[in-house]
Amino acid sequence: MNQPEVVMIGLGYIGLPTAALIAQNKTYVHGVDINPKVVDIINEGKIHIVEPELDIAVADAVKNGYLKAGTTPVEAKTYLIVVPTPFKAKNEPDISFVEAATRAVLPLLKENDLYIIESTSPIGTTEKMMNLIYSERPELIKKLYIAYCPERVLPGNVMYELVHNDRVIGGVDDGSTEKAIDFYKQYIKGDLHKTNARTAEMCKLVENSSRDVQIAFANELSLICDKADINVWELIELANKHPRVNILQPGCGVGGHCIAVDPYFIVSDYPMESKIIGAAREVNNYKSFWCAEKVQTAKLEFELKYGRKPSIAIMGLTFKPNIDDLRESPAKYIAQKVLQKSNNEECFIVEPNITDHKVFKLTEYKEAVEKADIIVFLVAHDEFKTLEISSAKIALDFCGVFKQKI
Ligand SMILES: NC(=O)c1ccc[n+]([C@@H]2O[C@H](COP(=O)([O-])OP(=O)(O)OC[C@H]3O[C@@H](n4cnc5c(N)ncnc54)[C@H](O)[C@@H]3O)[C@@H](O)[C@H]2O)c1
Repeated sequence: MNQPEVVMIGLGYIGLPTAALIAQNKTYVHGVDINPKVVDIINEGKIHIVEPELDIAVADAVKNGYLKAGTTPVEAKTYLIVVPTPFKAKNEPDISFVEAATRAVLPLLKENDLYIIESTSPIGTTEKMMNLIYSERPELIKKLYIAYCPERVLPGNVMYELVHNDRVIGGVDDGSTEKAIDFYKQYIKGDLHKTNARTAEMCKLVENSSRDVQIAFANELSLICDKADINVWELIELANKHPRVNILQPGCGVGGHCIAVDPYFIVSDYPMESKIIGAAREVNNYKSFWCAEKVQTAKLEFELKYGRKPSIAIMGLTFKPNIDDLRESPAKYIAQKVLQKSNNEECFIVEPNITDHKVFKLTEYKEAVEKADIIVFLVAHDEFKTLEISSAKIALDFCGVFKQKI
């Protein structure tokens, strides 16, 4: 492989597709991951994650010599940081991966290099990393281009959205913004919007917080409707007939590594000012707890009525329909709660999008429905919508598979 132009630190759900896209455009990319298994798989031209069309892109890029992976970075002109940014205890953002990745490239940086963070980050992270770089390499002060550019792709459609979505790009100064725009415009057809680093960081957090707040509104309605004996699905459909109203759908909570996480990055730093954002997180978390309690009540009612313990089917574990991703999944939390409170009731856990799980013993979905007395719908997977549930069974539809009253 020729001298790489781009070093991509972090080869996960975002870093690997981005590396493959850049390499497909005949730019030499050196991908870095601390996980040697990931590195080996990629160097074989294969992938370690599920994402349509990514396998072909990576196989081509590796075969043609434009993409190579390793566990340590090498010298390049552009460094992209795409490592995880989870939260710690007390819901505080953990930027230690970004810092570790930055420290790894620090010794390699030279005049006119471009350093970009794509990881979802709390406000001020890019400036913090700039200060870290300049404190360790003072000879480079004002001689680097440093920018932030968040990613907003939809898992399952990443290879298309990477190219076609608009991007927000913010440098620590105007020169950095321009340099980063010039970099991305080689690969991206969507519009590239200029701003500063802090606004770009906040923009990503706000996009996901906005979704979280809107889902919290729908979840709050579902709690009110349950008490008021109203079908929330019908209510929302009717309210949305108003030309300027667009209420989202309730569910069993909010999950995933973005919407359920990113709002905390704002609340943690601005607790007094972010009341609605914080309350939305609480409502969405409470909804999962409430669902678990509802299952418990249904079990007790069944036992009282029939004098025996019910068997239960838990339908779905992923954080949204038709994917295999369980990160921060409220359905997984509810399944755990139901199992913890299980008093020797038979429990069938269903997740058609994964083959096995190290904690849950999975059951085929039709078999689970056949055997269970209480069927708890947590994720509206397509398969479930074709099921016919006998009226002799109790169905708790928390995610609108049949849009029945809970
Ligand atoms: N997945 C998404 O849909 C999505 C969308 C938008 C933004 N993001 C953000 O993008 C960032 C990356 O997310 P992801 O989903 O790709 O994460 P991921 O967990 O799939 O991948 C991250 C990779 O980085 C590697 N890594 C960790 N520390 C490293 C280090 N110091 N050096 C080299 N490699 C290291 C890990 O081994 C892992 O393979 C996060 O900040 C996330 O919030 C993700």
